[in-house]
Order: sequence, then structure tokens, then C-alpha cells
Amino acid sequence: MRLRAKVAIVTGAAGGIGKAIAAAYVREGARVVVVDIDERKGNDAASEIAAKGEAICIRADVTDSGSVNRMASEVDRRFGRIDILVNNVGVRTTKPFLEHTDADWNIMIATNLTGPFFCARAVTPFMIRGGGGRIINTASIASFVGRPNRVAYVSAKSGLMGMTRALAIDLGRSGITVNAIVPGSINSPMNASQAADAVHDWGKETPVGRWGTPEDIANAAVFLALDESSYITGTDLTVDGGWVSTKARAGELA
Ligand SMILES: NC(=O)c1ccc[n+]([C@@H]2O[C@H](COP(=O)([O-])OP(=O)(O)OC[C@H]3O[C@@H](n4cnc5c(N)ncnc54)[C@H](O)[C@@H]3O)[C@@H](O)[C@H]2O)c1
Repeated sequence: MRLRAKVAIVTGAAGGIGKAIAAAYVREGARVVVVDIDERKGNDAASEIAAKGEAICIRADVTDSGSVNRMASEVDRRFGRIDILVNNVGVRTTKPFLEHTDADWNIMIATNLTGPFFCARAVTPFMIRGGGGRIINTASIASFVGRPNRVAYVSAKSGLMGMTRALAIDLGRSGITVNAIVPGSINSPMNASQAADAVHDWGKETPVGRWGTPEDIANAAVFLALDESSYITGTDLTVDGGWVSTKARAGELA
């Protein structure tokens, strides 16, 4: 129960990685707010997670600052504090560069970069009032390396790393740490459309020899949220089985 009495907001927690983070926080004693644009799935996730502790769902669209501000005020009204924000919402367009429309670009930036900015700005006054907090951004290996057919996603996720570093400075004296988790390829709905052979190949290219799980990311999100992690800020915790820092040529790994 390392997060007992903490109040945590996890965005995009209706499924996938966010739901695993929300469940892990509840197991550690936190009161958790599942925030998602999909209210039905968000409510289902919160009910399931609440079987082991305290969790509620509040619907919000992270691309809409009014919606985000109302969500943060509602969390404060119901729980009286906000200690942890996990900016986990993310969406990914995968198509050739020249097929990216204005809308594709704008959705990638609005959801993956502007959304975390709106959420961080909305919760910070409550964290300062409470004496500190934790902001954890879900970046991506696409924050560090180019990936094919994802120009807008890579651009937004790279920007999110910059925001992580800049906010760490702006909020450091307020006792708020700001870090990023960098997932590799994780077995979640975002990747459901990938062919089975792509899944197989990812495991073959990764030093640990398998895809990641949402729980792998949740474990990192617990670690960064702990009181004991107060000297870690402005940095990234890569959870990718070693993929981004290694390069094995075809056939070199069994
Ligand atoms: N799955 C991976 O392999 C992988 C790899 C690297 C990074 N990531 C990042 O991890 C995070 C979680 O990924 P996932 O695979 O669990 O995704 P997911 O698609 O399973 O979940 C995303 C959630 O965000 C919600 N959402 C979308 N737009 C929203 C909005 N405007 N406002 C509120 N909620 C919204 C969706 O309803 C959904 O529940 C994302 O930031 C993603 O970019 C994932």
C-alpha cells in the first residue's frame, strides 16, 4: 500500500495501459479517477477496478481545456486533493506522409501533446496547494526514434518529452516531479490491428524476447509515483525490453 491516501488521475484509463495503471494504483491504496472520452468503457473499468479499492470515472475530452478544467475541479470537490496525474491518453495515425491530412496532423498534436498540457495545467494549482505531486507523461519510443508512417505521432510524442523536461523546471520548486514513461510495443488495443507476424517479429528484435504488457508499464508508473521517487524529475523511464537502446541485425538474436 505504497500510495495510500493519494488521489490519482489516470487519463485514457478505460482500457489498455491506462486501465492497468489505474488498477495498480488502487492495489497500492490510491483513490483513482479513471478519465476517458468513452464514458461507458470508463465506467466499466472504474467498476471493475473499484472491486479492489476506490475508483470512479469522470468523462473528459483531453483536447478540450474546459472539459479538462471541469474534471480537475470535480476531482478536488470529491476527494479534496490531487496528488498524481498520469497523462496516458494517446492516439496513433499510421499512414504514409503524403496521405496525412490536416485533420490527421491536428488530432495527433491535440490529443498527444496539447492534451497533456491542458491536464498538467489544470491539476497543478491543486498539487501546489497540497504541497507537491507527480506528473507522469506516457511518451513512446517514437519520442526518441523515427518510426515509419507516423510523422504526426512521432512529432507529438517527441514534443511531449520536451514538455516533460520544461515542466520539471517550472514545477520543481513546488515539489512536483514531471517524468515520462517510454513504452516499447505493448500488447494493448492500440496494437490490436497488428498482424500476428509483426507481434512475433517485435519479440524477435527485442533483447528480452517478448512484447511488453500493460502491467510492465503500470509497474513503472507506480515507481515514479512513490514518495521515494522525489529526486527523479525531468527524465524518462524506458520500458521497452531494451528495444530502443539496442540494434540487433536480422538473425543475430534467436
Ligand atoms: N500500446 C503501445 O504499444 C504503446 C507504445 C508506446 C506508447 N504508447 C502510449 O501509451 C498510451 C496508452 O496506449 P494504449 O495502447 O493503452 O492505448 P488505447 O488505445 O488502448 O487507450 C487509449 C485511451 O484513450 C482514450 N482517449 C482517446 N482520445 C481521448 C480524448 N481526447 N480524451 C480522453 N480520452 C481519450 C480512449 O478512449 C482509450 O480508452 C498512449 O499515450 C500511447 O501513445 C502505447
